[in-house]
Amino acid sequence: MCGIVGVLGTHEAAPILVEALKRLEYRGYDSAGIATVNGGRLDRRRAVGKLVNLSDRLVHDPLPGKAGIGHTRWATHGEPNEKNAHPHRSGPVAVVHNGIIENFRDLRARLAAQGHYPETDTDTEAVAMLARHHLESGLTPVAAARATLAQLEGAFALAFLFDGEEDLMIAARKGSPLAIGHGDGEMYLGSDAIALAPMTDRITYLEEGDWAVITRAGAQIFDAQNRQTSREMRQIRMDAARIDKAGFKHFMAKEIAEQPTVLADALGAYLEGDTIRLPGQGVDFSRIERLTLVACGTAFYACLTAKYWFEQLARLPVEVDIASEFRYREPPVLPGTTAVFVSQSGETADTLAALRFCKGRADRILSVVNVETSSIARESDLALPIHAGVEIGVASTKAFTCQLNVLLLLAIEAAVARGHMSVQDRATLLTQIRGLPGLFNAALDRDASIEAAAQKISEARDVLFLGRGTMYPLALEGALKLKEISYIHAEAYASGELKHGPIALIDKTVPVIVMAPHDALFDKTVSNMQEVMARGGKVCLITDATGAAEAGEGVWQVITLPEVDSRLAPLLYALPAQLLAYHAAVAKGTDVDQPRNLAKSVTVE
Ligand code: F6R
Repeated sequence: MCGIVGVLGTHEAAPILVEALKRLEYRGYDSAGIATVNGGRLDRRRAVGKLVNLSDRLVHDPLPGKAGIGHTRWATHGEPNEKNAHPHRSGPVAVVHNGIIENFRDLRARLAAQGHYPETDTDTEAVAMLARHHLESGLTPVAAARATLAQLEGAFALAFLFDGEEDLMIAARKGSPLAIGHGDGEMYLGSDAIALAPMTDRITYLEEGDWAVITRAGAQIFDAQNRQTSREMRQIRMDAARIDKAGFKHFMAKEIAEQPTVLADALGAYLEGDTIRLPGQGVDFSRIERLTLVACGTAFYACLTAKYWFEQLARLPVEVDIASEFRYREPPVLPGTTAVFVSQSGETADTLAALRFCKGRADRILSVVNVETSSIARESDLALPIHAGVEIGVASTKAFTCQLNVLLLLAIEAAVARGHMSVQDRATLLTQIRGLPGLFNAALDRDASIEAAAQKISEARDVLFLGRGTMYPLALEGALKLKEISYIHAEAYASGELKHGPIALIDKTVPVIVMAPHDALFDKTVSNMQEVMARGGKVCLITDATGAAEAGEGVWQVITLPEVDSRLAPLLYALPAQLLAYHAAVAKGTDVDQPRNLAKSVTVE
């Protein structure tokens, strides 16, 4: 999604803004731009494509000034061209925006009636035009911004800069996060704290409906009712080392390889001897009648996996829903329901809206998040951090396994609390779980065989993934990873569904990736695999040594993983799914960390 940065500094703003925007590159974007005020004069530079294009532009056409705003744009309204790139300017006002202004057509019509016409296809331009209109009617910049904000509908984070004002930046948040950074005699703005990491670790998050008047002396914050308010300034732990490729070719490769370490960190945070230690007051599963799990994309597949765990280990009924469906279906939330929202970023618009729908309806709202300061975390009764560290690659990898980890630990807690698992069995299972980082290391050693299979798979136009039980959501996740970064069309089916239609697709050009640890369902899955092979299908079997010995013969490719307790297999089997997609994408030469059309944090619906 779009990224916003801003600075009121004592040094040239342009290099600081470009550097900060680089740190937001991971969110996905298709154009970028900056505006500054210099000698009282507002000016801007914009460029389509990667930030390097903007940097090149700035070499030939520098933009001096110590006050500035910058933006990376992920197109929503209007194609990604320079005209539509931010900052948008209307006379003396420049605006950068993340989100969607829902009533921009009405605003445009009203402005047109007064003789002001847009020059771009964007919703954002209406904000700049409106602010200009208020300035021209005699309001001060602060009053003009305030009047403008009162007329906007939708979800947004906004920053305003004004001609003639070198010590003023206005920021507003409604639905999209925005962080103010405090320096020494300098102030910053960022759509997340990562952007500001090198400049400051002192951050104030604006809350829903807040807007702020920022000068070098500090920030005055106002709430949605325009009452001056104070928001806590936090010292954020910025692990700069974790925002670096550390010698890997891509962030995604680094994040896949980091899984043993981050899982060990996460386990360290949650395990205490033979028990599980949840933050805050924890969760009393003996009083919960059902769970509703809601998320999007990869996080949704983590929820689907967790449904098997909660139902099988704890006999706790679970409904799982895609947030964008849940929020508009407005399902009945029965008494006894705890709602759980899973989100790496903690800012996904649909997941946040679904959470808000559950407020006052569900008994309790839990979230499983990577960003502890995120909106979803802050709006939950209890936020359970996954401790994956900053995830930069657009395709989620380590966050998925760390989400699974927390959900599994919750399912184990539920199983014990509801009398379906003894504390001795929990201790045994936790010992196995402590072995997961080691198993991940051993599985990473099999990378060469995964890369060889991926090379072949990269030549396919279509790929099918099959799995049964918890391997079904894993198959869905494998297909999502492959399509999003290699652009190969991939679908996943529950193995048992193959005969009900998809088997018609099987021929020698469609590789079929079968995810099948040697567990209670192995024979069933192998029967489905043989149905594929009998029809000339090429199978890539991901299994363990026992599975490979039993069913590997005649199979096109076999990827052998370490043996693992079947309850933990979803975590380990995520790794080959991620590596297959990664190597296939590298073989195809795609932009692995920033695949086309995708954004890291989807803050629009
Ligand atoms: C896929 C991927 C997305 C996200 C989804 C939800 O690799 O990363 O499908 O899982 O956009 O994002 P969060 O978890 O931030 O709510």
